[in-house]
Parts: sequence; C-alpha cells; structure tokens
Amino acid sequence: MPLLELRQVTRRFGDFTAVDHVDLAIDAGEFFTLLGPSGCGKTTLLRMIAGFEQPDEGQVLLDGVDLADSPPEARPVRTVFQSYALFPHMSVEGNVAFPLQMAKTPAREIPKRVAEALEDVRLTGFGRRYPHELSGGQRQRVAIARALVTHPTMLLLDEPLAALDAKLREEMQIELINLQKQAGITFVYVTHDQTEALALSHRIAVMNRGNVEQVDEPSKVYRFPKSRFVADFIGQCNLFSGTVAARDGGIVSIAVDALGTVRVATPSTIAPGTRASIALRPEQIRIGASQGDTASDNRFRGTVSDLLYMGDVTVYRVRTDGGAEVEALLANSQTGRAKFFEPGDAVEMDWPAAAGHFIED
Ligand SMILES: Nc1ncnc2c1ncn2[C@@H]1O[C@H](COP(=O)(O)OP(=O)(O)O)[C@@H](O)[C@H]1O
Ligand SMILES: [Mg+2]
Repeated sequence: MPLLELRQVTRRFGDFTAVDHVDLAIDAGEFFTLLGPSGCGKTTLLRMIAGFEQPDEGQVLLDGVDLADSPPEARPVRTVFQSYALFPHMSVEGNVAFPLQMAKTPAREIPKRVAEALEDVRLTGFGRRYPHELSGGQRQRVAIARALVTHPTMLLLDEPLAALDAKLREEMQIELINLQKQAGITFVYVTHDQTEALALSHRIAVMNRGNVEQVDEPSKVYRFPKSRFVADFIGQCNLFSGTVAARDGGIVSIAVDALGTVRVATPSTIAPGTRASIALRPEQIRIGASQGDTASDNRFRGTVSDLLYMGDVTVYRVRTDGGAEVEALLANSQTGRAKFFEPGDAVEMDWPAAAGHFIED
C-alpha cells in the first residue's frame, strides 16, 4: 500500500479549477516532487495534503485512512514553506522547540530533541542565535529542523530553495538529498525548477493546469516525455510535428513541416496519416562540417544561425535548407576549444532513429 494516496483530488476557486482530478500514489521513503510552471496547482495540492485546504472532490489517504476529518495538526505531516516563516523574536532553539511545546512534549525532553534536530541539519552551536543573525541557507535549515523535530511521517516542502542564490541552492540540494536519506522520511517537494526536480527526486509528477501529465523517474521524464508539454518543460528539446507517412518494423517516418522526413523508433502501432511529434534532445544530435558520408537514419543540412556559448557546452541553432530551426549541443571540453562553428557556417546534423522520442499528439 502506498503511504500517501490521492484519489481524484480536485480544488476549485469559483469557476476556476486549480487542481483537477489528480491521482497519485507516493511510497514511504520516497523523495517525490511536484514539478510544474507557476500557477499549475502545486501549492494548492500540497496544502490539501497538509490539511490547510479541503478538496472539493476526491480523497487524501494516508496509510489507507481518509484524512478528510483530520485537521492539519492531527496529521503526521509537516510543511516547510517558500518563505521560511521562522519566528523572528525567537532564537533558533526557541523556533525548533516550538512544535514540541505545542505537542506537549515533556519539558525535560525538549533540549535533547532540539539538539538532535539541529545536529541533523548541521547547525549545532547555532541554537542561541536569532534568525536575522543567520544566512538564507542557515535559516532554511532551521525551518527544516523545526519541521523534523516532531518526527513526522512526511515532510512537505514548498519551493524551499527558491530564495537562495544558485551556488547556495546547489549546496542545499545536496544537503536535502542526504537529509532525506538519513532521516528516511518521505518528502513531497514542490518546485517549478526542472533542474532541481531532476537532481533531487526519486520520482517526479509533472503538472500542467491542475493536471498531472506524467509520473516517472527523472531519467524517464527526461528521456521519454509522455506529452509535448513535458518534453518542452523539462530541459531543452526540439519538438518536430508532422504526419505519420510510413511504418517499417519499429521505425516510423514522419513528414515534418519545413524539415522533411524524420525517422523515429516507436513500439506503438500507429496508422499512417496520424498527427504526431518527435522530441529530440539537442545533445542527441551529431553536428559536423558539411561532408557526412556514413549512413544515418536522419541527416539534414543547414546553416548555423545563432550560438549560445555556455562554458561547458555550446548550443548551436541551425536553420535547415527547408527553413526549420533545430538546436544541437556540443560539449566544449574535449578539444579545449571554445566553439566549433560560427554563425553562417554550413553544417550537417544527424541522429539515429532511436535518439528521438515519439509522442502521439
Ligand atoms: N485562495 C485562492 N483563491 C483563488 N485562487 C487561488 C487561490 N489559491 C490559488 N489560486 C489559484 O489557483 C492556481 C494554482 O495556484 P497554486 O497552487 O498556488 O500554483 P503553484 O503553486 O503551482 O504556483 C493559480 O491560478 C492561483 O491563482
Ligand atoms: Mg506555489
């Protein structure tokens, strides 16, 4: 049985549906992420799990028990909010002790529990400080210590790193992974940042307009997106749309506007004439000076129109002879050169049928 189960959970504000018949099953010990653009319903869904918000339809079950009648404080669930929501006039110790006092933990047990929680987040020795005397990362760790001190079954985290700068965010990500592993507590994590979701999660639910479009491991979401939305939202992706022209074994040919015939592997049986898309990651494309002679499933000529030098890699935007825009990515590391091509250079791109991912429209 999953630890947490959502069945057809729906929440409306007036005639606007913020969360639309969502089904999810989250296992004990998982680092599970709700990922999607701003406004897609992540926070609303999290608030229904916490009990701050009631579903208009559907059920939230924990260990198979419907939580409809449990107020937030009765649920073995704690939330870490976007803003840390620490009490500014209380010391770190005071902040972390607060939920224990609310839970009527015997006073003599409290100092030990607080010390353990601070140790978990590597803040031993910071107990007497006040929130304004801490860095953003430290404040976030206090917020997590405060959430963990009552040993909840599940921790809900709503964009907890959004306010931190890039370097600190990466440090905190590693810390969260370790903390989750150590504590063995189930995390339900909310973010709009796909890189963060891919880095942290065991599984990701990709949300769009109140719906869950795909639930999968990070590598599957990245490599096998179920919809155009998922392909587009997760990382950079070329999306070619067209009509299925022919099928030959496990490979279909799709007539893509402005590009030409693109061959892609797919296990599904699909009738000619059907509209479909191909998702192709820029790093799957081989790009070279225009003179390819080896056989390839897909080969297109074009001209570099733009490039984006990103340090470790360069993204080349190539305009094909037919007028299609394709993005290809090359690692810069191996040659020690900053770039291989300049705008205006003629190039040839190729990729095997297995590199693309077939999406039924
Ligand atoms: N209390 C509310 N009243 C009216 N609309 C709301 C309320 N809470 C959220 N919404 C709307 O529901 C949608 C989803 O919001 P939210 O769950 O906060 O999205 P996310 O966390 O993914 O950015 C948004 O369009 C938001 O404006
Ligand atoms: Mg939100």
